[in-house]
Amino acid sequence: FQDSTVASILVAQEIAALIRDKENQNKPCVLGLATGSSPIKVYEELVRMHREEGLSFANVITFNLDEYLPMDKGNIQSYFYFMHEHLFNHIDILEEHINIPDGSVSSEDLYQYCIDYEMKIKAVGGLDFQLLGIGRTGHIGFNEPGSHYNSSTRSITLDHITRVDAAPAFLGIENVPRKAITMGIGTVLSAKRIVLLGWGGNKAEILKETIEGEITPEVPATYLQNHENTTFIIDEAAASELT
Ligand code: F6R
Repeated sequence: FQDSTVASILVAQEIAALIRDKENQNKPCVLGLATGSSPIKVYEELVRMHREEGLSFANVITFNLDEYLPMDKGNIQSYFYFMHEHLFNHIDILEEHINIPDGSVSSEDLYQYCIDYEMKIKAVGGLDFQLLGIGRTGHIGFNEPGSHYNSSTRSITLDHITRVDAAPAFLGIENVPRKAITMGIGTVLSAKRIVLLGWGGNKAEILKETIEGEITPEVPATYLQNHENTTFIIDEAAASELT
């Protein structure tokens, strides 16, 4: 796409159509959601559709990809805060339908917490749609290089590059948490439909590796090449390195 605004509106329209389709079938619509700069305009458009076109999120269940560890929900750097600020506070989703990994879980409870997150996704029928961004390390969610294709929800150590990229938001790299909870590659790949968003020239190199490179744990996003219903929605700058 020439620019990310038109592209984001198209993605929001696909999500809205899915929500309405599920509503007509009297089934819940299960969305996997991402944070960061990439999906912001998609959320903006979904909020507009709710306000102006009556799009209801009453039958939508969401699972966010990740959260920093440790992280309190009240912290403005939390993904909990981000999601409420950009989407949940402005739509009619039920609070009990929102699932975001809890960055305040104790280390004793962490292992079971991750298993339960995974089970909760399965219990509602699995992810109908997964929205993704991509990190410069090739991470999707916070599945950093070395992640296994079969991995499930777990805690992970963040890559140095990921912490560098997050540093401005935390006013210095020393304030960026070293760990996160993330859905696994296996969790992401279990989604029936995946859309990855990539905007701007600083994503061009990793998108080339992801789309044209060999599938490797060193670039976890390359695992998406094996998924049968994935689309990369990218702008011209992000596509500039593709052959
Ligand atoms: C966020 C997430 C990450 C981001 C990625 C790109 O929930 O899972 O994988 O999608 O780091 O971040 P932005 O969009 O800020 O460039």
